[in-house]
Amino acid sequence: MTKLWGGRFQKSAESWVDEFGASIGFDQQLVMEDLEGSVAHVTMLGAQGILDSKEVEQILAGLAELKKKAEAGELEFHVANEDIHLNLEKMLTDLIGPVGGKLHTGRSRNDQVATDMHLFLKKRVVEVVELIEAFQKTILEKAEQHIETIAPGYTHLQRAQPISFAHHLMAYFWMLERDKERFNESMKRIDILPLGAGAMAGTTFPINREKSAELLGFSKVYPNSMDAVSDRDFIVEFLSNSSLLMTHLSRFAEEIIIWSTDEFKFIELDDAFSTGSSIMPQKKNPDMAELIRGKTGRVYGNLMGLLTVLKGTPLTYNKDMQEDKEGMFDTVHTILGALKIFEGMVRTMTVNTERLHSAVHSDFSNATELADYLATKGMPFREAHEVTGKLVFTCIQRGIFLLDLPLEDMRKESELLEEDVYDVLKPEAAVRRRHSLGGTGFDQVRIQIDKAKTLVSTN
Ligand code: ARG
Repeated sequence: MTKLWGGRFQKSAESWVDEFGASIGFDQQLVMEDLEGSVAHVTMLGAQGILDSKEVEQILAGLAELKKKAEAGELEFHVANEDIHLNLEKMLTDLIGPVGGKLHTGRSRNDQVATDMHLFLKKRVVEVVELIEAFQKTILEKAEQHIETIAPGYTHLQRAQPISFAHHLMAYFWMLERDKERFNESMKRIDILPLGAGAMAGTTFPINREKSAELLGFSKVYPNSMDAVSDRDFIVEFLSNSSLLMTHLSRFAEEIIIWSTDEFKFIELDDAFSTGSSIMPQKKNPDMAELIRGKTGRVYGNLMGLLTVLKGTPLTYNKDMQEDKEGMFDTVHTILGALKIFEGMVRTMTVNTERLHSAVHSDFSNATELADYLATKGMPFREAHEVTGKLVFTCIQRGIFLLDLPLEDMRKESELLEEDVYDVLKPEAAVRRRHSLGGTGFDQVRIQIDKAKTLVSTN
């Protein structure tokens, strides 16, 4: 097959060499964006009088036909035509004749591919934000059902202080809120159009880049043609935001996994989001949560991969940049999938409130309450900490908890302790009394949930 750039060549590359250089295997995912970019480009060429209206009409008709075929899945791509850009251009000339060759006037594949990538990410980031928000809403709904569900809170995965289970869930709402913010803010940098930069130096044709930007819905154009074709920072930023998102999902996934063990039994995942074992009939495995935790690795890998590809490449375009695509496609696919699955998993999971209740009533996570009680009565907190520690130790030796320790034994350590300490030591009270802003007190959790509701759209 003759190459679209074959004029200068005396012999063609062997097919296995073509294969190594080709990106059509994966960049065919840019088919719609490439066609969209071409439509805008040729329209602009017409408006500027660079092509006459008949030529523009013919090219637009050809592009429309290709779009129809693309939607029907009828386009046949060939490795010999290297990438999506050359494949489509070849198809266009096959369809409408040599006038198709005028489409590339004043354009290079370098500004074309960068344009496609910007268009692609612009759409996908909107989808990501929508799915983040859908997940946030589900978390919010679950949280609302469990404001008064008392659960153990942990540090070092050791029982720390009693909390409202809603408070724990809502922690992830806020992480996702920042993720959403990051993706939204990144839009500012995705929304810059490289088209019109040419190969790297601009063009002698009297093009109108602002017109192309307007046609494609971009608010700005790259002010420097060399920068426009060289940088992939907007993709790095997307991969970085995706990595952070996956960090959050992965931590949540890890908790889901721990909570569904027999040892914890805090939640039960719906059958639809669990799998069985091929040998052990009793098993119900949290595969989806594990997979999300696992897939976090590939998203980090994609970020590191692209940073490493870009590092040290001289300006401007280098073929290295073709390596920006697979990691980005893979990341888009991975995070959209992970968000969708996670939403369903949380929506359908059952929270074992009794188990949470009994867990928090059989530990020492109310010890801080005792120390605070003494401190409120005037004992320096350090001393109160020491006294409480001794009482905890006494309980451990007797195999009981603080609420079971008779007052006379408590008073051996401090006369400040009185009958009312038992009310303070109740886990419910420990949660209820935490009125500090952003704390786990029921009133604070309600305030938090009300605030959260204003941040997700209600439709
Ligand atoms: N397939 C190429 C890529 O993805 C398109 C740009 C090719 N440009 C060039 N000068 N070889 O980067």
